[in-house]
Amino acid sequence: MERKITVDKNKCIHCGLCIKDCPTSSIEFDGDKIPEFSEVRKERCVACQHCMAVCPEGALSFGGKNPDDSAEVSYGNSDELLNLIKSRRSIRYYKNESVPTDKLDKIKEMLAFPPTGANADSLHFTIVGTKEKMDEIKKVTYEKILQSSSDSPIIQFLKNSYQNGQDISYRDAPSMVVVSVNKSTVVPGCETTDPIIALSYLELYAQSLGMGTMWSHGAVTIVKQNPEVYSLLEIPENYSLSYIILLGIPAVKYKRTVQKEASSIIVI
Ligand SMILES: Cc1cc2nc3c(=O)[nH]c(=O)nc-3n(C[C@H](O)[C@H](O)[C@H](O)COP(=O)(O)O)c2cc1C
Repeated sequence: MERKITVDKNKCIHCGLCIKDCPTSSIEFDGDKIPEFSEVRKERCVACQHCMAVCPEGALSFGGKNPDDSAEVSYGNSDELLNLIKSRRSIRYYKNESVPTDKLDKIKEMLAFPPTGANADSLHFTIVGTKEKMDEIKKVTYEKILQSSSDSPIIQFLKNSYQNGQDISYRDAPSMVVVSVNKSTVVPGCETTDPIIALSYLELYAQSLGMGTMWSHGAVTIVKQNPEVYSLLEIPENYSLSYIILLGIPAVKYKRTVQKEASSIIVI
């Protein structure tokens, strides 16, 4: 997104909230007390859009976006959110149906919002949206595993299970989301956290849409054995595969939540 702010002088009340909330101090008042980018610090702007979000009058546009097109701020209902978190399960049985396109569209919309280090936007998401594509990827990855002479216990386990008719890695899911990270632009230290945050948001949101998900260490392991799959997944050059989450309509229904207690929490 273009780093540019535009201020409607008739709406601006010169409150300075945009200046105060800017994490990189990139905004200052001009001679008429209208906010503008600081010549010396505008390069630091991380395009977080806080300036547009905080403006009480909708006077400030970031990157050409119309503030009136933003959604109203809402923090939802905390009890419902806690219940969604308690109700989320790893789904290992999926209906033999593709994920409806409107649900995939909602997931695509959501994936722009999880936070990333310095708002660097270094993630690439590949949504495998059809059963046909899943079958193709499955075939290529398992072919490689069947040929593998690796003595790694996990590879042996996945191979043996597949030979016994069990798809431990993909769980016969009709879809999956693969997240990869741009090695050049990711903020050092955020290579693991950015993708995991995004998929954690995705997992909860997908379950709120009636979808099921499962983080798949098995899928990551076998895909990493075969670089050929990277091109099937259209992972761009210079990106490294981070994680895979399976997605589909659950074929199992839970009647109640589990009951858990955090094993180690202290308040100091
Ligand atoms: C990073 C990660 C990787 C996982 N990989 C697998 C996997 O390869 N196979 C599997 O059956 N479950 C996998 N799981 C699911 C966990 O086993 C599951 O979260 C745990 O048993 C608790 O169940 P719940 O998610 O339904 O609460 C994974 C979970 C996470 C967070």
